Amino acid sequence: MNPPPTAAEIGVIGGSGLYALLDNATEHEIDTPFGPPSDRITVAEVGGRRVAFLPRHGRDHRFPPHLIPYRANLWALRSLGVRQIVAPCAVGGLRPELGPGTFVVPDQLIDRTSGRVQTFYDEGAVHVSFADPYCPVGRATVLDSAAGVNAVDGGTMVVVEGPRFSTRAESRWFTSIGGTIVNMTGHPEAVLARELALCYTAIALVTDLDAGVEGDHGVTQDEVFQVFADNTARLRDVLLDAVAKLPSERSCSCKDTLTGIKLPFALP
Ligand code: ADE
Repeated sequence: MNPPPTAAEIGVIGGSGLYALLDNATEHEIDTPFGPPSDRITVAEVGGRRVAFLPRHGRDHRFPPHLIPYRANLWALRSLGVRQIVAPCAVGGLRPELGPGTFVVPDQLIDRTSGRVQTFYDEGAVHVSFADPYCPVGRATVLDSAAGVNAVDGGTMVVVEGPRFSTRAESRWFTSIGGTIVNMTGHPEAVLARELALCYTAIALVTDLDAGVEGDHGVTQDEVFQVFADNTARLRDVLLDAVAKLPSERSCSCKDTLTGIKLPFALP
């Protein structure tokens, strides 16, 4: 029997400049208890795997980072059957050696957002482990697929509230506390995925050197969008290769996140 057209096992959440990914996809309007996701979700088969694509900001980029419906996005993907997510995003480099065009597969995150809803669980005792925010199997798979673009293995993503870019002093401080890259959307996306026991792997494309590293005009939106656009084809190749290589049976601990925890509601 064929799977329903909405069925998917892997999700890709596209960042700034990546508003479409899949060829020959079907398109689906999904609703959730947290409202609609950022846009219609497209679903297609890639290398024998069912893949769902959702543009994080909406395909017309109508949602700024602080207003993205993060909960609806993760819930909607899980409701289709998605259990593993690959999440590309644009980032600024906090180290001079991480210049524009560099790909980084981070292994740590520092949350500097404020005021964003970052949990599904406003009732009961649901405290998920988040020491290692990214899926180890997803990271290894994406690194393998990104070998051709020399992706950097590991790094700490500082997530700022935005939508403004950081001051030079903030940026220097992020470097001094161990940050290697900075962006505006990596949180709460990662923790909400973990709260739904999903595997989540970020792949960051450096679009600029952040204000504390470069000594010139500061970061501009134009350069971020331009560098992302210049690298979309390389990113697309990495993503399509990675989704086909992700294991169909999960062996990581992400899937056991909620084992033994009494949830206030059933997950989709
Ligand atoms: N996204 C891309 N570049 C960025 C930067 N320098 N700071 C925050 N978010 C970004």
